[in-house]
Amino acid sequence: MTVAAQPAQAPSKTILRALAGEVLPTPPIWMMRQAGRYLPEYRATRAQAGDFLSLCYNPELAAEVTLQPIRRYGFDAAILFADILLVPQALGAELWFVTGEGPRLSTITDAQGVGALKPVEAIHDTLGPVYETVKILSRALPAETTLIGFAGAPWTVATYMIAGRGTPDQAPAHKMRVEAPEAFDALIDRITQATIEYLSMQIDAGAEVVKIFDSWAGSLKGDAFERYALEPAKTITAALKQRHPGIPVIAFPREAGEGYIGFARATGADCVAIDNSVTPEWAAAHVQCEGCVQGNLASSHMVTGGPDLVAATERVVRAFSKGPHIFNLGHGITPDADPDNVARMIETVRNFKE
Ligand code: CP3
Repeated sequence: MTVAAQPAQAPSKTILRALAGEVLPTPPIWMMRQAGRYLPEYRATRAQAGDFLSLCYNPELAAEVTLQPIRRYGFDAAILFADILLVPQALGAELWFVTGEGPRLSTITDAQGVGALKPVEAIHDTLGPVYETVKILSRALPAETTLIGFAGAPWTVATYMIAGRGTPDQAPAHKMRVEAPEAFDALIDRITQATIEYLSMQIDAGAEVVKIFDSWAGSLKGDAFERYALEPAKTITAALKQRHPGIPVIAFPREAGEGYIGFARATGADCVAIDNSVTPEWAAAHVQCEGCVQGNLASSHMVTGGPDLVAATERVVRAFSKGPHIFNLGHGITPDADPDNVARMIETVRNFKE
């Protein structure tokens, strides 16, 4: 077990301590999509904002929904309320959300489409309200709560920009990757540069950690995984580390499987978030041996609850107890989850004793 050297001034917040490699008696906890439709107070604020995008671009209300799960549950981290698809919009793509279905974007399929995107510097014109949300949060959060900023990884963001919507197999993006590799590479590069600027501004505004969501990394195999999941994560992490030394990066190459092994070392990320397609015992043996991990309870337990929820939560805590660990779900909580199950999960994590 390699435990990272403590910085001169050791962090006091539990999430930052785990990210620095410390093994804590109780893992700190937060939850992907913790501000979301399973919470009645979220639904009320979203109705007040009008729609999802208006909520993302309203700093006061976006900060309010970010704070709701902190007030209700006392999570150890708050994640900025925004969406990974704001970056394509800031680069000039049309973006809208169809209720009950998900995001829709104008599509990019060739070099002309990539060429028509706005320059990277232009993104701040659109994303200004997000930085304002971060500023409000860094003032409003309790002293012990860590503020996490985020962006989508270039591959995942590109899959939406190319297809114009979510797809089960990311086929349109794979097609462009194979048939128009130059245009595809130019798109990945534009998103990579935009992501560096976007995350850098979030850090300047007060984000203490940033997370890169590569939700569709699992559909990249072999060389393509290295080139389009690993390399962009490495480029973004290196640029951020140079500009903001000491700000931890969490990488989430979802469903990477074997690709999780060595990912933190290869990219320079401080922590790898693990989905629930692998067992916590496997992840402890093969990934946590290299540093901090985050995960990986199946989010379905937040719907089904009961003794299975308690047993599965304990299994995750136990499996990761020998190394640095941030407790989380394997993917975002779903709208049909029961808020009481979330409370039960937190209680189980915090009361766990071997
Ligand atoms: O984790 C958090 O609480 C922070 C906020 C956050 C949202 N989206 C809010 C959101 C984060 C980190 C995201 C990331 C995101 N967005 C990803 C990567 C992580 C993942 O879940 O795989 C992706 C692929 C998106 C794109 C996106 N946004 C989709 C496909 C959808 C529709 C699906 C759905 O759940 O409705 C969204 C909408 C979205 N983003 C919602 C929230 C709370 C639901 C919108 C609503 O209130 O109707």
